[in-house]
Amino acid sequence: MTHLSLENVSVNFGAIAALNNVTISMNGPAKIGLIGPNGAGKTTLLSTIAGFVSASEGSVQLDSIDITRLSIQKRVALGIVRSFQTARLLNDESVRTNVLLGCQPMDGPGSVRQMFATPGYRKWNKLAQERCREIEEIVGISDIQNVQVAKLSSAMRRFVEIARVLVAQPKVLLLDEPAAGLDHSERRQLERILHRIAEQKPTLMILVEHDVAVVRNVCDYTYVLAEGTLLAEGATNEVLADQNVLSSYFGGAARA
Ligand SMILES: Nc1ncnc2c1ncn2[C@@H]1O[C@H](COP(=O)(O)OP(=O)(O)O)[C@@H](O)[C@H]1O
Ligand SMILES: [Mg+2]
Repeated sequence: MTHLSLENVSVNFGAIAALNNVTISMNGPAKIGLIGPNGAGKTTLLSTIAGFVSASEGSVQLDSIDITRLSIQKRVALGIVRSFQTARLLNDESVRTNVLLGCQPMDGPGSVRQMFATPGYRKWNKLAQERCREIEEIVGISDIQNVQVAKLSSAMRRFVEIARVLVAQPKVLLLDEPAAGLDHSERRQLERILHRIAEQKPTLMILVEHDVAVVRNVCDYTYVLAEGTLLAEGATNEVLADQNVLSSYFGGAARA
């Protein structure tokens, strides 16, 4: 079991309070939704967990380790990995090479090109390739492993990025708006991928989404952020049926 908690976390960017006294306690494996209007602080919350942003106040704990001041790399080593709102992939490289890059931070020999052809590298490479194959299967991108990333649709690029994050063997999987820019059928495909991940590689998955339908279809439990403050939390169905949440923060959009 994985336990992640934030205690009274505030994050200030100059005069802007991106997060204001947020306290959250989560147990994994689970599929947790994090929703809220633009500028609510969703990305900042993921960044605070992953170490890209440091809390101005409060603390972050993973399995009773205080990680508040740890570097990104140390958090990756503890199993916290994230995706970004815009996929960060090497366009000229193949799908497999891009997925393989996700193996490096945790257990790689430093750089793929470094130590090339040494026994240590070959052993690492064999294990890493096997892990990539397994994850590509789960994500449903096995048949495009040799395709150059530049040739892919934005949905397939998104799925490649999810695979790259997954090969790092996360305990805590942070996904920032994976449905952004996807059409209706691609969103349903994304939901199926997230369900397969939850079944085959259970993690504490935190899904930041603007699309409430994806959260409804995937997440067991959901948090609502508004203006840096936690507005509601609970079983996804209950939170999404809450008139306060709907009318104050989403208008009619949440019903779509
Ligand atoms: N690096 C930054 N520097 C200054 N302000 C930022 C930075 N990142 C986010 N903000 C501000 O913090 C608030 C929350 O942003 P963000 O976490 O990106 O919201 P969301 O992901 O919910 O749309 C916004 O007002 C945003 O402009
Ligand atoms: Mg965001």
